[in-house]
Amino acid sequence: MNEKPEYLIKNGKRLDGRKPEELREIKMRTGVVSNADGSAMVSFGKTKVIAAVYGPREVHPRHLLLPDRALLRAWYDMFSFSVEDRKRPGPGRREIEISKVLTEALRSVVFLEKFPRTAIDIFIAVVQADASTRVTGLNAAALALADAGIPMKDLVTAVSFGKVYDEKGKEHMVVDVFKPEDNWGLADVAYAVTPNFGEILLLQMDGNLTREELFTGKRMADEAVRKIYRQQVKALKDKYLEGLE
Ligand code: CDP
Repeated sequence: MNEKPEYLIKNGKRLDGRKPEELREIKMRTGVVSNADGSAMVSFGKTKVIAAVYGPREVHPRHLLLPDRALLRAWYDMFSFSVEDRKRPGPGRREIEISKVLTEALRSVVFLEKFPRTAIDIFIAVVQADASTRVTGLNAAALALADAGIPMKDLVTAVSFGKVYDEKGKEHMVVDVFKPEDNWGLADVAYAVTPNFGEILLLQMDGNLTREELFTGKRMADEAVRKIYRQQVKALKDKYLEGLE
């Protein structure tokens, strides 16, 4: 969609037919990369991300070694063919920034002090992008860490929310932003929390929101977090129940 649409929501329905608080179809699976220590695939509609965890393992380069805790690093990357206009391969400014914020969010939940002098590397690959890739990536990374058996104080559950306009120009908050809403919406927010403690690990906004709108969006996102978290737990259990039933 290259031209600004007349509206992003009409009669309470978004351009893909969803209600404001409705999530896209979510799929989650762990153990998708057999040579990783832990891995997961998560898709929110057409946005599809694979995360693979390697470690705890030896630190390279050695000068990055931390004597009292593990060095956790996350790399976010988007495949060239994941977007409509082919993306130049390799990390650019955007990928470096996203890797940094995802690394920081994940460092807050892992018990790093249990693995001094080691590295925990998380590769987050966007296979197909239809917006909200960083939050989808965080959900996948958290699952991959749990799949690797790395102790964490909680999972990480993430979702986006945003502000869109209707045919009369009235503004509405929505959850789980997809591409047209990301392109033409008035604001979008990437939001991640520890689902059991409600500690905010990521809050990144593009555009403008009033305080009231931010809190409305957060309330809607917290509701979505509960649903996403249930699916994360199910994805973790499913792998171990496979073959037992
Ligand atoms: O993906 P996320 O919403 O976390 O981050 P963004 O930087 O706001 O990107 C929004 C969306 O723009 C991505 O999810 C892709 O669908 C799209 N995009 C693209 O088409 N080409 C790029 N080089 C980067 C992003």
